[in-house]
Amino acid sequence: MEARDFELLIGQNIIDRYHSDSTRPQVFELVGMEWDLLDDVWPPTYSPGGELYAHLIPFADMSSFLEMGCGTGIMSVLAALAGVERVLGLDINPAAVRNTELNAARHHVAHRVTARESNLYSAVGPGERFDGIYWNPPFLNAPEETVDSSIWHETMFDPAYTKLRRFLSEGRGLLTPRGRAYLWFGEALGNPTLVSDLADETGYRLDVLQRVEMSEIPEALVDAFPADLTGGEGDGGGAWHLHLLELTPR
Ligand SMILES: C[S@@+](CC[C@H](N)C(=O)[O-])C[C@H]1O[C@@H](n2cnc3c(N)ncnc32)[C@H](O)[C@@H]1O
Repeated sequence: MEARDFELLIGQNIIDRYHSDSTRPQVFELVGMEWDLLDDVWPPTYSPGGELYAHLIPFADMSSFLEMGCGTGIMSVLAALAGVERVLGLDINPAAVRNTELNAARHHVAHRVTARESNLYSAVGPGERFDGIYWNPPFLNAPEETVDSSIWHETMFDPAYTKLRRFLSEGRGLLTPRGRAYLWFGEALGNPTLVSDLADETGYRLDVLQRVEMSEIPEALVDAFPADLTGGEGDGGGAWHLHLLELTPR
């Protein structure tokens, strides 16, 4: 099977699992705090991401922070709680915008967090600049012709990694002189050097802040992957990892 067909299959497995999941809570706990979860918003409990390592992002040095694809808005809220005065969460999914507002209110940082519906940076105002930009993006490079604009396809798939490339290249122009981009990402299945290639192409130096074995990922997501990618039995164990990456403009 072609790598991209394989990525389509993994994504479809996760989407099917989401729709048949009758145990999904309306409120969940992560990083020792409670969070609202609206329907049709990516549940971070399926695959906790960069928020587990938020302490590695230097929020104390930032006065502004943009979270792309904010989903439930956990990273936006953590940034605001860490003292960032102006936080902007963007998501193409209107439910995610509402969800981020709910969680900002729940944790008493609504005065610092704004959420906007946005296709990548389309809702960023002229002159807005950020000390940090972060995304836990759609990971899967499914064939373009198999992907539509439904919320769940937008959440899971990024054909040819067009969105990731734009996140980095257009984000560079929205950073303050000391600004950096942060990314939660795994080696792409069919292209393990993707992020370092993209960093070179878009003019960033890449540093790994945290590397996580796929075998540490919870059942809900691991089940969607074959065992040889997730550290199960066999030689290929642990072949796939997740990373919190810091990208500094060169
Ligand atoms: C894997 S989810 C991560 C959600 C959340 N940041 C988290 O870590 O739990 C990817 C998010 O990116 C959003 N997204 C996908 N394509 C987008 C686009 N073109 N513009 C803005 N957001 C997008 C999805 O709606 C989804 O909320």
